[in-house]
Amino acid sequence: MSFLNEIEPLKQTALTELSAAPDLAALEQTKGAWIGPNGKFTALMKQLGTLSKEEKPAAGKLINAAKVELEAALISRREELELKAALPKEPTDFTLPGRRRALGKLHPLTQVTDDIVRAFRKIGFAVADGPEIEDEYHCFDALNTPADHPARDSQDTFYLNTPDKRLLRTHTSSVQIRVMEKQPPPVRIIVPGRVYRRDNADATHNPTFHQIEGLYVDKNVTVGDLKGTVEFVFRELMGDDVKIRFRPHYFSYTEPSYEIDFTNALVKKMGKDWLEIAGCGMVHPQVFETVGYDPEVWTGWAFGFGIERIAMLRYGINDIRLFYENDGRFLKQF
Ligand code: DAH
Repeated sequence: MSFLNEIEPLKQTALTELSAAPDLAALEQTKGAWIGPNGKFTALMKQLGTLSKEEKPAAGKLINAAKVELEAALISRREELELKAALPKEPTDFTLPGRRRALGKLHPLTQVTDDIVRAFRKIGFAVADGPEIEDEYHCFDALNTPADHPARDSQDTFYLNTPDKRLLRTHTSSVQIRVMEKQPPPVRIIVPGRVYRRDNADATHNPTFHQIEGLYVDKNVTVGDLKGTVEFVFRELMGDDVKIRFRPHYFSYTEPSYEIDFTNALVKKMGKDWLEIAGCGMVHPQVFETVGYDPEVWTGWAFGFGIERIAMLRYGINDIRLFYENDGRFLKQF
């Protein structure tokens, strides 16, 4: 009877020691001390032979059940400790960026914007930013855009119902003013951003789209610099067969002003000779006066073009709305 009474307390002590083993080496030691060839539990089993015929079956059953329990405890503690050993020793910062994206991709418009920004960075341009909810001053007045200009028509522009007549910016040109108000010349910036116009005439227009604005102010800046810069960037983006041409145009904040036409093999494939792609010109002296730059000292150029337009050209897309529908079948292709 005393033998039977020994099993349970021994088992309990063994279980406690196994589950308290602080590491794998300690666990192996504990295992040896209990169920190894010279272990205490093994010794108990060896004593089975000394028991009487009546005692044996009950004691054997009890011991076997206890052994199964001890082995299960050993395995489960070993798994715990192995997992613990595999974890990094230092605490992990899960907010750090991963080495590669586990899931998803950059939107094609983001990819094109990144490429445009990269091209301009190569030649020393910095990225600037401004608000999407603008006031009329920065969107129009400071850009020398008179009150009767069609762009200011409520038919074309999303005005907010506020006393100060704020609006969703119709172009990124407003950021030219904000940057020049804040810093003295020279200036060399690009502004990628979202703009809003009441315009959904066809599948190539949408009431909101994205632009990249450029502004370069220094001494003795010329139209030649402007053309060289635009040509460089478009060749970076679309390949070496790109040709551009300037056509005279009118913008109130530049003089002279141009529209930029673009062509390459893709444009020819679309059955066209040239595609209108941007507006640009030499910054109007009145704009410099307004922001407090001396137009006798400083010269500059500016341009603005649509990012969607370029992405459509680059990927051969004919419906602008595809960019905004978040259809996985479309997005997966980029
Ligand atoms: N803001 C014009 C537009 O939205 C584009 C533009 C034309 C920007 C001439 C400029 C510029 O900076 O000089 O159509």
